[in-house]
Amino acid sequence: METVAGTSLIDPFAVAVDVDKGEMPEATNRQVRRASDMRGYYVDERALERLIEQESDPLHYEVFEVPVPNEYGHLMYCISKLQPGVVGEECFMTKGHYHTQVNTGEIYLCLRGEGYMVMKTSDGRFDAQPMERGKMVYVPPYWAHRSVNAGSEPLVSFCVYNAEAGHNYGDIQTEGFLKRVYRRGGEVVIE
Ligand SMILES: [Fe+2]
Repeated sequence: METVAGTSLIDPFAVAVDVDKGEMPEATNRQVRRASDMRGYYVDERALERLIEQESDPLHYEVFEVPVPNEYGHLMYCISKLQPGVVGEECFMTKGHYHTQVNTGEIYLCLRGEGYMVMKTSDGRFDAQPMERGKMVYVPPYWAHRSVNAGSEPLVSFCVYNAEAGHNYGDIQTEGFLKRVYRRGGEVVIE
């Protein structure tokens, strides 16, 4: 069996996904972000501190993975589960990132909840695609992306991307996303 340099030959496998709960019970990587991990991301910093204090630093979002080699040709995938809520008026969201290999895209299939995939490019383009069960969002290469939960239940999605893509959180932390998603008087506002 001849293999191509840089791409490992591994055995096929299957992984159980609880699509209703938004969990991958066999996940060997479970990344957990709590409210305190989100300092610096929301407009209303005092509201975030109140949330951390009054609700004992609640769970914000989780990412479940069973990793594959991060090599060309392999496909990485995950379940992302973002809790519902607001910080002041701003809907709960993930940190968001560019890929380190910036010319790689990603697919998100929403399994539960409602919200937006908020995206931007480094030259200032902005886009927000609605997410709801059964909606697939294509994040093209070069677009930074973040999930925002605008509903009242967890926003769960399944994602697939190039395994060698990597995550660049730093640039978007500096740049921000141009627009934010708020809940005001029962209305969802992006501005
Ligand atoms: Fe990504």
